[in-house]
This record gives sequence, structure tokens and C-alpha cells, in this order.
Amino acid sequence: MSLQNTSFLDACRGHRPERTPVWLMRQAGRYLPEYRAIRAKVSFLELCRTPELAAEVTVQPIDRLGVDAAILFSDILVVFDAMDVAVEFKPGPVLPQPVRTRADIEGLRWGDPVAEVSYVMDAVRACKRALADRVPLIGFCGAPFTTCSYLIEGGGSRDFLEVKKLIFSAPELFRQLMANMSALLADYLIGQIDAGVDAVQIFDSWAGALGPRDYVEHVLPHTRALVERVQAHVPAGRERVPVILFARGNANLLAHTATIPADVLGVDWSIGMSEAIDIVGPERVVQGNLDPGVLLGPKALIHARAQEIVAAGARAKAHVFNLGHGISRVTDPEHAKAMVDAVHEAPTAKPRRHARL
Ligand code: CP3
Repeated sequence: MSLQNTSFLDACRGHRPERTPVWLMRQAGRYLPEYRAIRAKVSFLELCRTPELAAEVTVQPIDRLGVDAAILFSDILVVFDAMDVAVEFKPGPVLPQPVRTRADIEGLRWGDPVAEVSYVMDAVRACKRALADRVPLIGFCGAPFTTCSYLIEGGGSRDFLEVKKLIFSAPELFRQLMANMSALLADYLIGQIDAGVDAVQIFDSWAGALGPRDYVEHVLPHTRALVERVQAHVPAGRERVPVILFARGNANLLAHTATIPADVLGVDWSIGMSEAIDIVGPERVVQGNLDPGVLLGPKALIHARAQEIVAAGARAKAHVFNLGHGISRVTDPEHAKAMVDAVHEAPTAKPRRHARL
């Protein structure tokens, strides 16, 4: 099997393809009428747990938008199935029994996510069949901090007071929890890789909840361990898969995040792409970073803003275009398509070729 479109993987590996590759975080979801049609029949969790349906939804934005990569349809919180931690989607995640006390944490069960979240591994195989090598498939998980934040807060949070209470009153207990989570997530991503994904992305959506000092002390070592464990895994008969690290709220954290040797550094929309490249250096591959809100404006604006970011990205080793966070559910799919077209039409830096004469 060989992929028909390698631009995304080429960029992840530090090469500059002819056209800047593009995909969108949350590209399969409620802004698409064809997604809503399926969701009218099944719940979100049923969709995640039914490999053929998850594959159908994964492919929807490939057909409609012409993006250069697919992302597995799932959620960062389904991994809790390996820990017997219940989660409901209303549609935001809610945990009826958050994990807060020492007894809660010490009572957690750390199962094998490959065996116990096997529907995700089956969904990967179903997606690969459905994609038929048109574009690569990205697997994903939440970063240890974002995943533990949901576990502790019991859902989304504005101020992360339960997490901070734990970090500052029982740092050793928090460290143990994060270390265990990092190991579980590594097994989970390695399972997705062995099932066939071509790249993985780690979402640290809540990294910005901490200031740089505490991010470096309490979060970074566990994210680094996760990235390095996954990078140490070479799937049988294939190349090692690239690891993308996306930490949101990262204008202040990027210099620290960049000390982790992820193959690609995600950049959120809180910083200019050019400034982000100054911070991470010209030898790193970057991904991002159009404000998803721009897609609510007119197509001419979307076109101009997308091409500005492509131009800025030319100074990086390579650039994967993306939004600076997930697409909003009120986005007109035609506007998302206008963004993808603008990226593909943008003049890019000449690919670096080795002279053969
Ligand atoms: O990118 C994709 O298209 C793949 C699918 C995907 C989903 N969630 C589907 C989903 C991915 C990669 C995620 C990751 C995820 N989930 C993150 C990290 C990315 C980010 O946005 O920061 C986080 C923090 C979650 C947790 C989560 N799950 C939230 C906050 C919500 C509610 C979001 C909302 O739009 O209301 C979910 C539910 C969820 N995950 C939906 C989808 C399509 C909506 C569920 C529905 O159909 O009702």
C-alpha cells in the first residue's frame, strides 16, 4: 500500500512539499450537515464505539473539503474506558464521579487501553479501509495534563481550582497520577500506530491553565515522556510515525514546549506564526494557526488571512497549515473549503532540492 497524497507526512518529516498541506482540528463534527444526519440517529458515544460509523464520519471532511489528512473520529476521553471511569457527553464531557482525593487516585485502575478500548483500534482499521490510501490518517490522545484535568475537574473548567489544589497541596500524588497517565496514553497511541495510523497528535488543550513555572515543573516532564515513548516505537514493516504536539494557550509556553523533541509543534492562534517560528527556531516543523473565528468572516478575508499564514510559515523547516484550535460548530462548510483552497493555491517556498549535477 502506498499513499496517494504524501504532502502532510512529508511536511511532518521536515520536507517541503509542492503545496502546503492542510487539515483542520475537529474537521469531522457538528458544522457538517452530513455529520449531523448521522448524529440524529446515534449518540456521540455510540458513534465513537461503532467502527464503521466512525470511519464514515472520518471520511466526510476529506470528500467535502479536500484536506490532506484525515483525523480519526473519536474523543480524547474515551480512553477512560480502560480505567472504568464513566464519562457522559452532554455534548460537553461530564464525569459523574470526578477523581479528587488521595483515596480516589490510589483506587484508580490502570487497564490496558489496547485491549479495553479495542473499538478505537477497530475504528483505525475501518478508517484505513475507508480511506483507501487517499490521504494519511492521524490518531490522537489528550496530553497527560489535559486528560488528568478532566479526571479531576469532572468536566471543563474555567479556573482549574481542583487541579491546582491537588498540584499545590499534594504534588507527589499529582506526579504519580501524571506519570501513570503518561504511561497509559503511550500504550494507547502505540496501539493506534500498530492498528495503522500514519501520524499521531497529542492535544494539550488546557496547558495554558498553568503559568510557565508550574507548566515546566508539573506538566512538561510527563508530556516529554509520552512523546519520547511513542517516538521510540517503530511499527513492524513501517517507518516511525511523526508525533505532533499541540499545547493550547501557548504564546507563553511555546519556548518550553519546544524543548520537547516532537516532530511537529502545534501553534495556537494566540501568537503570530512568524513570532512562533522566532521562538521555536527555523529548524522545527510547525502546524497552525488561523483563528477559527476568521472562518465566520467573508471568503475574501479567509483567503487573505490563510495566505498570510502560509507566507509566514515559509521560514519554518516545514509547515502544516491548520486552525489555531478546533473549528467552531457554527462555521459554514463552504468557508472551511475556501480556507483549504486558499492554502493550496498559495505560492509556497520552493522545495529544497539537492542538485544532482
Ligand atoms: O478533530 C476531529 O475531527 C476528530 C474528532 C475529535 C473530537 N474530539 C470529536 C468530538 C477530536 C480530535 C476531539 C478532541 C477533544 N475532545 C479535545 C482536544 C481538542 C480541543 O478541542 O481542545 C477535547 C478538549 C475534547 C473533550 C470534548 N469532547 C469536548 C470539550 C466536547 C464538547 C465539544 C463541543 O463541541 O460541544 C467533546 C464532544 C465532542 N468531541 C464532539 C465531537 C464532534 C461533539 C459531540 C456531538 O456530536 O454532540
